[in-house]
Amino acid sequence: MDRRTFLHLTGTTALVTLAAPALVGCAGADRPAWTKGDPFALGVAAGDPTPDGFVLWTRLAPDPLSADPATPGGLSVGNIGIGYEIATDPALRDIVRRGSAIAEAAHAHSVHLEVSGLAPGRPYWYRFTSGNAQSRIGRAMTLPALGARVDKLRFAFVSCANYEIGYFSAYRHLADEQPDLVLFLGDYIYEYMERRRPTVRMHSDGVEATTLPTYRNRYAQYRLDPDLQRLHAVAPMLVTWDDHEVDNDYVGEWSMRFIDPAVFLKRRAVAYQAFYEHMPLRPDRYRSGPTGPAIRLHDRFAFGDLVEFAVLDPRQYRSRQACPIPPNRGGGHLETIASCPELIEPARSFLGAAQEGWLMDGFTRSPARWNVIAQSTLMAQWRQRMENKEISFWTEDWNGYEPSRTRLLHHLHDARVTNPVVIGGDIHSFWANDLKLDFNDPKSPTIATEFVGSSITSFGPPHEQFLTYLPDNPHVRFFEARHRGYVAVDLTRQSMTTQFRNVSDVRLLDAGISTLKNFTVEHGRAGVQI
Ligand SMILES: [Fe+2]
Repeated sequence: MDRRTFLHLTGTTALVTLAAPALVGCAGADRPAWTKGDPFALGVAAGDPTPDGFVLWTRLAPDPLSADPATPGGLSVGNIGIGYEIATDPALRDIVRRGSAIAEAAHAHSVHLEVSGLAPGRPYWYRFTSGNAQSRIGRAMTLPALGARVDKLRFAFVSCANYEIGYFSAYRHLADEQPDLVLFLGDYIYEYMERRRPTVRMHSDGVEATTLPTYRNRYAQYRLDPDLQRLHAVAPMLVTWDDHEVDNDYVGEWSMRFIDPAVFLKRRAVAYQAFYEHMPLRPDRYRSGPTGPAIRLHDRFAFGDLVEFAVLDPRQYRSRQACPIPPNRGGGHLETIASCPELIEPARSFLGAAQEGWLMDGFTRSPARWNVIAQSTLMAQWRQRMENKEISFWTEDWNGYEPSRTRLLHHLHDARVTNPVVIGGDIHSFWANDLKLDFNDPKSPTIATEFVGSSITSFGPPHEQFLTYLPDNPHVRFFEARHRGYVAVDLTRQSMTTQFRNVSDVRLLDAGISTLKNFTVEHGRAGVQI
């Protein structure tokens, strides 16, 4: 029996045995009332688009931050059937689909509804229903038909939203812009409690997330944020993760704290499970493996002939960071090539061999005018000159995996990939970079352009100190670490215009928004034009 058949059967069984609202039929009609709390308090989300459908997400949680591990979201019952409606208009007047979906008890009553058979290249609006409760209305979209002519797309990318550090005004302002699509590039949650720096609000349970209930509650708390919730209702998402969805600076089975991999993988397993439970991902992306759940996150999404997004997974398959030294230099730290020749060891891979091969193979086939690589961390070389004048590199981003980066950039060049653009996050600062065939030769051709968004709230690196490194990095054309925000992108056949948007102050609930800088990349000409 395959997994989906199993779910449908267990879902049907649950209808009979439910102690809470028993739900039958379609669209939430004739159902008993929910008597306590809003089951849709966590909102809705759409993602994983195809030319004829998408995945719709919600999670039933009438008591979203239930502290009892036996009752995630306040529910102790089995699977629950709920209704859904999909329409061609925002007011849901022209309903084109009604049906029922399963909120899976094994996954904290989350719903990952796969919808197909819709028209390509257009928005749809949807909501879920259950008894007397209705979710808010969300907007989803289907991809254009394969190869269809597409003239424009408005998307945005975001990363690094530490709830404790500030309010999510950046998400609110982005929602106001009504982008067609938002890419979440990692650190959607932060697992830890902020102990050193000033905070404006607290992670509700007061502990670092390490268990299934604590990871679930972390996501639930973030999804209760009205700005984040509205952004999900306004725009469908593509998503990858970075480290804080699990633990700071982890890669593969390796924790930066030198925890036995067999022990650490148990934590990673529950973190991956909670991630799946809170994202609009296809159920077959979530697989059980020998080391616990694995999620096949890397994927490609083509918007007709205009743009293909290659969404990468920078964590799950990565080689361990170079030169780990117990007890506290297991994750990111600075090394010179002389002190750590492992930095240039060709066998190490940022993506893992399989994903690296998949990525390169996909580019070779891509007919798109723009090829956007959506991932989490800084790709450009970043030389940091130390007091003794030696050049050091950060081991945690692509700088710790130089041969892996070189393989990718050489492939973009050799395969003549059209208009490659890399977008990323992680470093909590705005960057516009020329990606060079050979970073050690400033005259080397620029073969791709990189834009790095700041953070939604997280603190940036030391701005003044980083400015002193710029003379050693002429390919870094713009750097700004003092502002938080997001990047909004207008893409046409002729150009990509990126707007670095920054909020006035993450400590203010009603922070304003402004544009820090605009850049344009012209079709056929790699690199930042200033
Ligand atoms: Fe971050």
